[in-house]
Amino acid sequence: MTNKKRILSGMRPTGPLHLGNLHGALSNWIDIQDTYDCFYFIADWHALTSDYEDPSTISDHTKNMMLDWLSAGLSPEKSTLFIQSYIKEHAELFLILSMITPVPWLERNPTYKDQIIQLDNKDLSTYGFLGYPVLQAADIIMYKANGVPVGVDQVPHVEITREIARRFNYLYGNVFPEPDAVLTQTPKILGFDRRKMSKSYNNAIYLSDTRDDISSKVSMMITDPDRARKNDPGNPEICNVFSFHQMYSTEDTSKDINDQCRKALIGCVECKKIMAENLIKFLEPIREKREYYASQPEIVDEIIAAGNEKAKAVASQTMAEVRQAIKLNY
Ligand code: TRP
Ligand code: SF4
Repeated sequence: MTNKKRILSGMRPTGPLHLGNLHGALSNWIDIQDTYDCFYFIADWHALTSDYEDPSTISDHTKNMMLDWLSAGLSPEKSTLFIQSYIKEHAELFLILSMITPVPWLERNPTYKDQIIQLDNKDLSTYGFLGYPVLQAADIIMYKANGVPVGVDQVPHVEITREIARRFNYLYGNVFPEPDAVLTQTPKILGFDRRKMSKSYNNAIYLSDTRDDISSKVSMMITDPDRARKNDPGNPEICNVFSFHQMYSTEDTSKDINDQCRKALIGCVECKKIMAENLIKFLEPIREKREYYASQPEIVDEIIAAGNEKAKAVASQTMAEVRQAIKLNY
C-alpha cells in the first residue's frame, strides 16, 4: 500500500499529558505523520507492570490519553492509533521472545535498576517487570518497525529489542528488521515550582486543564528568586515565567517583557497574567477539540476500534510468520 518507512511508538497510560509531554514526544509524533507510516499505541499492559496492585485507573487513563492524542493532533486518518491489550498477539510474541532472551540482558538494563530504586513504594521484584523490555520488543517488532521515536531514557530498550530481533532471526530465520531508536528532543520544561515538569512532582500544566486551572497554576509560578519587590529590577534569564513567554507569547511581547522586567517597569503579577492569557490561547484549539471528542464518545470508540483492527491485521500476519518460523504452527 505504501513504501513509507514504518514508525512505531507507545506511551504508558499513567495519567494526563502535560506541556512537557506535548513539546517532547507528542508534537514529534504529530509532525512525522505525513512522512512515515506511523503506528502509535497506548501501552496499557506496560502500565500494569507498575500498577498491578490497583489497575482500576488504567482504563480511564487509556481513554483520556486517546483524547489527549486526538485533541493535540494525532490523526486517525494518517496514523494507526491503537491499544496494546486489544492485540492479544503482543502477549503471544512476548511469550515466544521470552524463551530466547537471556536473563542477564534484562538484569543489566539500566532503566530496570533505576526504576526499582525510584519507585521504591512499589514492589517491582516481579517477573513481569523484569520482562518489561521483552514486551516492548514484541510491541516494536510485531509491526516490523524501522524507527522508534523515544526519549533518551528508552534507548536501552530499543537496543535490547535489536538484540532480541537479531537472536530470533539467527535461530529461526530472518523475520524481523532491526529497528533504530529515533531520538526525540525533549525541551526542558520546568513545572511551576521550577523542578522538571512531571506528574509525580505535582507541578504540571496539563493539556486538559481548564482556563482557571492554568491561571491559578501560572500565578503560583516561581519567578526570579532575587526579585523581592516590584521596584527591584528582575532577571528574565533565570525566570521560568519568561521561558514560558518565549514559548507562548509573540516575539514582540517577549522583548517588551524582557526590557520592562530589567527596568522594573512591570510587576510579576501582571507579567504572569499576560503569559497565562497567551498560554490559554495556545491551548485553545486543543481544548476545543477535546470538548468535541469528549462530548462524542462514540466517535472516539470508533476511532479506537478502527485503529485496533488495522493493527490487528498486521499483528496476525506477523504471528503467522513467527509460528511458521518456530515450526509451532497449530
Ligand atoms: N516503555 C515506553 C515508555 O515508558 C512505552 C512503550 C511500551 C514503548 N512499548 C513501546 C515505546 C514500544 C516505544 C515502543 O515510554
Ligand atoms: Fe519573571 Fe516577568 Fe517577574 Fe520578570 S516580571 S521576574 S520575567 S515574572
